Amino acid sequence: MLFLVIALLPLLLSPTALAQSSSSSVTAAAPSSSGAANSTQELDQANYTGLLNFAASLPNSTEGQAVLDELVTGNKTLLVPSNEAFANISQNITNVTLVAQTVAYHILNNTYTANGTRVAPNHTIARTILRDSEFSLPGNFSAPVVLTRNASNATNFEIVQFDANTTTNVSAQGPTQIANVLVYVIDQVLGLPVSIDQFAIEAYPPTLAGEIQDSGILTAIAASPGVTVFAPTSGAFDNGPDFGSNITLITEDFANHIINGSVAYSTSFATGKYTSAGGQPFKFASNSSGTYVTVGNSTAKIVQSDIIISNGVVHLIDSVLVDTESNPAAAASAFSSGIAAAQTSTEPTSPVTATTAPAASGSAPSSTVSKSAGQRVATAPWGVAMSGALAGAVVLIWSAYYLK
Ligand SMILES: *[C@@H]1O[C@H](CO)[C@@H](O)[C@H](O)[C@H]1NC(C)=O
Ligand SMILES: *[C@@H]1O[C@H](CO)[C@@H](O)[C@H](O)[C@H]1NC(C)=O
Ligand SMILES: *[C@@H]1O[C@H](CO)[C@@H](O)[C@H](O)[C@H]1NC(C)=O
Ligand SMILES: *[C@@H]1O[C@H](CO)[C@@H](O)[C@H](O)[C@H]1NC(C)=O
Ligand SMILES: *[C@@H]1O[C@H](CO)[C@@H](O)[C@H](O)[C@H]1NC(C)=O
Ligand SMILES: *[C@@H]1O[C@H](CO)[C@@H](O)[C@H](O)[C@H]1NC(C)=O
Ligand SMILES: *[C@@H]1O[C@H](CO)[C@@H](O)[C@H](O)[C@H]1NC(C)=O
Ligand SMILES: *[C@@H]1O[C@H](CO)[C@@H](O)[C@H](O)[C@H]1NC(C)=O
Ligand SMILES: *[C@@H]1O[C@H](CO)[C@@H](O)[C@H](O)[C@H]1NC(C)=O
Ligand SMILES: *[C@@H]1O[C@H](CO)[C@@H](O)[C@H](O)[C@H]1NC(C)=O
Ligand SMILES: *[C@@H]1O[C@H](CO)[C@@H](O)[C@H](O)[C@H]1NC(C)=O
Ligand SMILES: *[C@@H]1O[C@H](CO)[C@@H](O)[C@H](O)[C@H]1NC(C)=O
Repeated sequence: MLFLVIALLPLLLSPTALAQSSSSSVTAAAPSSSGAANSTQELDQANYTGLLNFAASLPNSTEGQAVLDELVTGNKTLLVPSNEAFANISQNITNVTLVAQTVAYHILNNTYTANGTRVAPNHTIARTILRDSEFSLPGNFSAPVVLTRNASNATNFEIVQFDANTTTNVSAQGPTQIANVLVYVIDQVLGLPVSIDQFAIEAYPPTLAGEIQDSGILTAIAASPGVTVFAPTSGAFDNGPDFGSNITLITEDFANHIINGSVAYSTSFATGKYTSAGGQPFKFASNSSGTYVTVGNSTAKIVQSDIIISNGVVHLIDSVLVDTESNPAAAASAFSSGIAAAQTSTEPTSPVTATTAPAASGSAPSSTVSKSAGQRVATAPWGVAMSGALAGAVVLIWSAYYLK
């Protein structure tokens, strides 16, 4: 239990007591200032033993110690899963790296409040302190969580989780300010961002997920140093176009569902300029019925935005975008400039407490791009066309397009 106390010391103590505790953990048990006593009591009485036990190994690993060091630096928001949430984890996690990653993913790198959170269906993208080669993003940005809140409720926000095919909003109760840390209690342990393969397993029926995996496309996406995927729902695949076995068409169309080198969250649709891995420009439009993405002259509704994956983000769309135009030079240029832009962009540094809605984009989808797409008729699920022997070829073609 000693390590439990040491691990959570920064959290449990006010600045006064924290300064004292750096030389002695005994100070923690008997904080002298009334403010410290109050904070300690509050957290003690709240019985956050689930997190305390879970985080016990942090001081024992380099990565865990780094998480603790970061926690006491600057303004942080800590999402504390309740004891019940930890009780629901089927097995004890003994892997110290995984423990450190998980705790890091519950620490937001700024001050987050309900009144500063965008109202649903809009999202606030909150950077955690999880930064790791497994979760690498352009510009070395840390992995984010997605926040939103109900229009009628300015006192609570929610964390949007895509889990096993459903979107679950995890309500954050609080806050309590403890030293530099704003603490909220949540009733789930947040899942780490998943790989694109895991996303496919969660989002699609097994047969379709298997076919998509067999195609090799996910391998190519996973290799991207930062990616945005407009992924048709399984229903959309069922109603998608039939390209027969024309691998060129299939590949070119898939490429126009992807932004390679840029991670475009819904918050940047209105202002960002994005080009597909096929070199075609994306356009976005929002109205009271939702947000739409257009490539070429094909438009789809975004039915679930901002599903965080380990190397980027997925937006589920309600139909397959049909655009087989290809401009490899434009794609390569967009890739380079996307990576370069991420290097020079910075994390937000001011507290995220004011409601800062992005500039509204009222423009309708433009249909100035003309091309012929009339020959493609929906007759069979895409997955069927993508299976088996096509896989290798698709990987090769895709690699040529968007892996440099
Ligand atoms: C902490 O301090 C606040 C304000 O002084 C007080 O309302 C609250 O009851 C105290 N909490 C505990 C656990 O003493
Ligand atoms: C914390 O645990 C103690 C001892 O089991 C219990 O008396 C107290 O009510 C608990 N506090 C909360 C907030 O659940
Ligand atoms: C941390 O390391 C210490 C010393 O090696 C060991 O006694 C303790 O059991 C470890 N704690 C955890 C939770 O791994
Ligand atoms: C933390 O937040 C406070 C209050 O908004 C602000 O004054 C202070 O500058 C912030 N500290 C850092 C390191 O950002
Ligand atoms: C997890 O560890 C706790 C404490 O060591 C133990 O009581 C519990 O049975 C373990 N749970 C599982 C599922 O292994
Ligand atoms: C521990 O967890 C990390 C991060 O999830 C993983 O990469 C590593 O393979 C795991 N180690 C073991 C021994 O399972
Ligand atoms: C937003 O919420 C925070 C924390 O609840 C509060 O301190 C702050 O005054 C609120 N700001 C506004 C503009 O209501
Ligand atoms: C937290 O934010 C600060 C200020 O923006 C930044 O300098 C720091 O690198 C961030 N830490 C992590 C772990 O992302
Ligand atoms: C806001 O939502 C929280 C969590 O769902 C709930 O406990 C609270 O009562 C709600 N407040 C209002 C004013 O609706
Ligand atoms: C996900 O949802 C779709 C559509 O409702 C369903 O067909 C599919 O089986 C679900 N996948 C999983 C893994 O539950
Ligand atoms: C695939 O489609 C393209 C464009 O319509 C066409 O030029 C090409 O000949 C087709 N290839 C095969 C093998 O049918
Ligand atoms: C969501 O954001 C858009 C674009 O900024 C804005 O027009 C709209 O009013 C916002 N919706 C809500 C419910 O805040």
